[in-house]
Amino acid sequence: MLIKLQLLSLAVLLSAILTAAETSYKVGVGRADCTGPAAEITFMGYAKANQKGCGIHLRQFSRAFIFNDGKNLMTFVTVDACMMNHPLKQAVIDKLEALIPKTFTLQNTIISGSHTHSTPGGWLKDVMYDFPNLGFVQESFDALVDGIVRSIEKAYKNQVDAQLYMNSGILLDSNINRSPAAYAYNPTTEQNKYEYNVDKDLVQLKIVRAKDDVPIGVINWFAVHPTSMNNTNCLIHSDNVGYASILLESSMEPDSLPGKTSFVGAFASTNLGDTSPNLKDPICIDTGKPCDYTHSTCDGKNEFCIAFGPGNDMVESTEIIATNLFKKGKELLESANSTEISGELRFIHRFIHMPSQTATYTLSNGTTINVHGCRAAMGYGFAAGTTDGPGEFDFTQATTTSNAFWNIVRDFIFPPTKEDAECHAPKPILIMSGAIQVPYEWQPSTVSIQMFQIGQFFVTAVPGEFTTMSGRRLREAVANEITSNGGPNNPKVVIAGLSNVYTNYIATPEEYQLQRYEGASTIYGPYTLPIYIQRYKELAKALISNTPITDDSEPYKFPNNLMSLVPPVIFDASGWWNNYGDCIVQPKESYTIGDIASATFVAGHPRNDNMQEKTFLNIEMQQKDATWKVVATDADWETKFIWKRQETFKPISQAEIQWKITKKVNPGTYRITHFGNYKYIFGGIYPYSGTSNSFTVST
Ligand SMILES: *[C@@H]1O[C@H](CO)[C@@H](O)[C@H](O)[C@H]1NC(C)=O
Ligand SMILES: *[C@@H]1O[C@H](CO)[C@@H](O)[C@H](O)[C@H]1NC(C)=O
Repeated sequence: MLIKLQLLSLAVLLSAILTAAETSYKVGVGRADCTGPAAEITFMGYAKANQKGCGIHLRQFSRAFIFNDGKNLMTFVTVDACMMNHPLKQAVIDKLEALIPKTFTLQNTIISGSHTHSTPGGWLKDVMYDFPNLGFVQESFDALVDGIVRSIEKAYKNQVDAQLYMNSGILLDSNINRSPAAYAYNPTTEQNKYEYNVDKDLVQLKIVRAKDDVPIGVINWFAVHPTSMNNTNCLIHSDNVGYASILLESSMEPDSLPGKTSFVGAFASTNLGDTSPNLKDPICIDTGKPCDYTHSTCDGKNEFCIAFGPGNDMVESTEIIATNLFKKGKELLESANSTEISGELRFIHRFIHMPSQTATYTLSNGTTINVHGCRAAMGYGFAAGTTDGPGEFDFTQATTTSNAFWNIVRDFIFPPTKEDAECHAPKPILIMSGAIQVPYEWQPSTVSIQMFQIGQFFVTAVPGEFTTMSGRRLREAVANEITSNGGPNNPKVVIAGLSNVYTNYIATPEEYQLQRYEGASTIYGPYTLPIYIQRYKELAKALISNTPITDDSEPYKFPNNLMSLVPPVIFDASGWWNNYGDCIVQPKESYTIGDIASATFVAGHPRNDNMQEKTFLNIEMQQKDATWKVVATDADWETKFIWKRQETFKPISQAEIQWKITKKVNPGTYRITHFGNYKYIFGGIYPYSGTSNSFTVST
């Protein structure tokens, strides 16, 4: 009897140990500053060549999460950048190999772009994507590589025993569908399964340190375009999702400056393809009337049709969407209703050559057809842009007939063959990018498909922007494949958008028929989605059954010398009477809550040093012992660093620093400090700083 009891308690003890072992992982979180050149570089997102940087509103960060069960280690990274592309991911892996050998590979690392449209571009290498920047910009590329690598290194060093939890909740009033006319092309029976024409679920993965039950990090996924800041903004900005991260992180550690908390809270991208944060219906800015519903035009033209809101201007709109995201994220983080994640960690990755893929596809009437991919091409509707940022030329969305002038321009670049045209129909081809490799690749042909299994939680990394319905179909197909192959019974599948390789949009074959922006930018033809669904199902099956899968192609290898027309910083000058850092416009002597304090300094070019992990400005408050304490930096929402050359063709420049004095600010004495670097005419880059007169803040 005694022995029996002892055996029993031993069994209880053993099973307790086993369950604990099953649900405890080593997890590391790390965040690093990856801010790029803060001036003169064209932003990536709206493809507007004259949307060039002029300073910083919010810094760019890379947030890394390492999951390790002793058998497998994998990394998920979300970065305040428009997307990710293969050459940059490869450079990150190569750099990590030198720092932490034999740990990080293309296969066990997902890098997902947050999709902010307000950060410097020119780093993707593909001609189509660096086009607005007049080619490759090494500085933008290096800034992202450095920051991403640092974030992963930190996460690697920070690994602790932790439990993982998943949760989700509905968030309303934060996204709309910007191509509802295309969404309506999906089968009615399918549309009827959903209450909304965009996903309203915010999905959360929470990391809780085992030793004290303290949350150390969280990843949130919500389908919204970070296009609250529009194409007239010239300050580096992580947009609605980036600000939501700052708000969440600051709420966990109110005494830390933004970007300096140990808690890492991410809002990552997902199937945001046809979503917009601009909740007011698009209007014609010339007449105030609604735009044409199908084409998003005003009197036949696209450039006046713009969506706004929910705020009175883009900054207020960003704040509203960010606050909604933050509040929902925080609510889920604090909720006791989350589900603990248990089970193995696994990863799988495959390179596939999209133009040569085949698949079967069942039409809504039940007929199954054989389909294949096409060489990459962009349609006319792409050049129209969207209601978040209309294109510059005379193009309209939902175009299925072509225009003679642009056909000539197109044929001058590269004419599509008869097969290309048939393959992409009904898309009229504007740019036959998949056929050109002069001077190098224009758009990728080889893409990366990848999945992480974190117990019953599955991260499906996709190389572009899936629309709402495309994402729903993919998640459902993958979840079914997981359960039918002996995987977890209730798998939670989340899409990690804009990961690893950028290939524009993935609309459903039905949405494709209308050729709005998303359909026109579905680059491998009408059956891009069915092909992906079939390949991801194979990937999920191989992941669950632990069978290896082989690549069917390799990513394009870019030449070392890429075309770049962005001139370097020649040198700086401070002008005859001034030194760098001189405060030439002093703040007022006193301000009250609600005012904006400002000061202007003689400055060097911000491209001389991106000041990663540092700042171009400090707002300091005088303490009782007369020392100064930093209360805000250039990573704060309340500050702006605005840089300009004083006169064109003269290397003299100025930095204006603004500080919005909100209710959070305590009355007292403050001052503004500016930090920068100047480039000496005979070579060398030198740091400088300058401080304003002090001023008082009263209520
Ligand atoms: C951008 O937003 C500002 C308000 O902040 C507005 O005046 C402007 O018209 C918008 N422009 C575009 C192109 O959306
Ligand atoms: C289903 O639709 C396709 C394409 O419209 C058509 O070719 C096919 O004949 C239809 N099949 C049936 C059974 O109606």
